[in-house]
Amino acid sequence: MTIYPEFPKNFLWGGATAANQCEGAYDVDGRGLANVDVVPIGKDRFPIIAGQKKMFDFEDSYFYPAKESIDFYHRYKEDIALFAEMGFKTYRMSIAWSRIFPKGDELEPNEAGLDFYEKVFKECHRYGIEPLVTITHFDCPMHLIKEYGGWRNRQLITFYERLCRTLFTRYKGLVKYWLTFNEINMILHAPFMGAGLYFEDGENQEQVKYQAAHHELVASALATKIAHEIEPENKVGCMLAAGQYYPNTPHPDDVWESLKLDRENYFFIDVQARGEYPNYAKKEWEQKGIDINIEPKDLLLLKENTVDFISFSYYSSRVASADPAVKEKTAGNIFASIKNPYLTESEWGWQIDPLGLRITLNTIWDRYQKPMFIVENGLGAVDTPDETGYVADDYRIDYLREHIKAMNDAINQDGVELWGYTTWGCIDLVSAGTGEMKKRYGFIYVDRDNEGNGSLKRSKKKSFDWYKQVIATNGSML
Ligand code: BG6
Repeated sequence: MTIYPEFPKNFLWGGATAANQCEGAYDVDGRGLANVDVVPIGKDRFPIIAGQKKMFDFEDSYFYPAKESIDFYHRYKEDIALFAEMGFKTYRMSIAWSRIFPKGDELEPNEAGLDFYEKVFKECHRYGIEPLVTITHFDCPMHLIKEYGGWRNRQLITFYERLCRTLFTRYKGLVKYWLTFNEINMILHAPFMGAGLYFEDGENQEQVKYQAAHHELVASALATKIAHEIEPENKVGCMLAAGQYYPNTPHPDDVWESLKLDRENYFFIDVQARGEYPNYAKKEWEQKGIDINIEPKDLLLLKENTVDFISFSYYSSRVASADPAVKEKTAGNIFASIKNPYLTESEWGWQIDPLGLRITLNTIWDRYQKPMFIVENGLGAVDTPDETGYVADDYRIDYLREHIKAMNDAINQDGVELWGYTTWGCIDLVSAGTGEMKKRYGFIYVDRDNEGNGSLKRSKKKSFDWYKQVIATNGSML
C-alpha cells in the first residue's frame, strides 16, 4: 500500500449534510413551511427550483421527499455516534431557518427550534466533533416568499440579520465555523431554491437575480460583522459551487468564453473575499441595462467585512465553448456544461475529474490567498445492499481516494492552505437536484426509496471503514 504524505496537523476531516435533505419533521415543534419543502420529486422539480413554475404549497398529486427525509430530527444521536465512530473531526450541517423563525419575520425565535440545534451541537462536542454550520442551505421560509418576494426584497436582510444574531448569541462557544449561504452562485441557476425567487411573466429575470444577490451579499457581510462582534473567535466563510472551466479548444474565443463563465461564478466570491464589486460585473450590468439598487452604506459594509475563509463544493470541472456548433452537454450540479471527452462520468452523467480539484484549489488560492475548506465532494451512485444492508461501494472509495490525492498534491506540492474536507452526504440523504433517494453519497446506507418506503434503518457501507482509516492516518493511507 502506498503511504502518502500526511495532511496538516488539525486538518478537519468530516462529512456534510443539509437540514432539508436529512431532518424531515417538516412540521414538528413549530417549524414553518419553507421553499425546500414544496419541491417535489419528478419532472416538475427543475422548473420549480428554477423559479419558472409556481409551487407555493403542497399539491396532492406530488411526492415531497423533504417532508420526512431520513428523519435526522429524531435520529441525530444515532447518526452522530456513527460519524464519531469514523473519527470525524468536524460535521457540516445546516440550520432550517423556519425552525428558528417559522414565518421569518417574527421578532422572537421559536425556542423548540433553538433547543434542537443546541442538542445537536452538544452531541457533536461529546465526541470532539467541531460543528461547521451553514446558516442557510437553500432554505427560505415560505411566508417570506409569499409576502415579500424572497430575496428580491431588501427587508430580507433584516430578517436574516435577526436570524444570525440569534444563532451567534445562542451558540456562542458551541459553534465557531459558520457559512453564510450555501452555493451562493446557485441563485443564478436555481433561483427559487437559492433565494426564494419566483418570476412573474415579463420580468427582467437577470435584474431580479442580481438585485437579490446584492441583498444576499450585504446580508453575508453583515453576518460576518456580527459574528466577529459577538465572538472574535468565530470564523465565517462564503460557499461557492466551484469547478474550473476549461476552454474546449485553444481557440482564443473558447479561452475567453471560459474566463467569462468562471467570472460568473467567482463574481460572488470576489465580493465576499475582496469586499467590492469587480469592474467586469459593473461594466456588464451597464451594457445589459441592469441597474442594481445599492445603498451607499452597503459598499462600506462589504469592504470592511470580508470572509475569513473560502469554502466550496466540488464535483466536477466544466468546459466552455464559444462555438454554437459544439452542443454535446454533460449533466452536472444544476447547471450543465460542454462534455469533456477525456473524462468518465457518474451514473447521473456528472463527469469525474480529480485533477480538476487540484486545479480549482490552486485557482482559488491564487485569486484570493485566503484559507479554503472543501465542504462538499463525493459520488452520487446507485447502491445495492445485501440482506444485512451492507454495500460494497468500491466505486465510491475510488472516487474519494483520487480526490483526496489531488487535495494532498495541492497542499503538499503546491502549498495551498486548506483547513478541511467534508464529503457530501456522509449519510445517504435526499438529492437536492433530483429529489431522489437512490442517488446516494453516504458511508452510511439508509433504508428508504424514492417513494418514501423503507425502515430508515442505518447500516455501514464498505466506505465507512475505509474513511475511518483515512482519518485515523490523517490521509496517509488511502
Ligand atoms: C450541492 C448542494 O449542490 O450538491 C447539495 O449543496 C446537493 O445540497 C449536492 O445535494 C449534490 O447534488 P445532488 O443533486 O446530487 O443532490
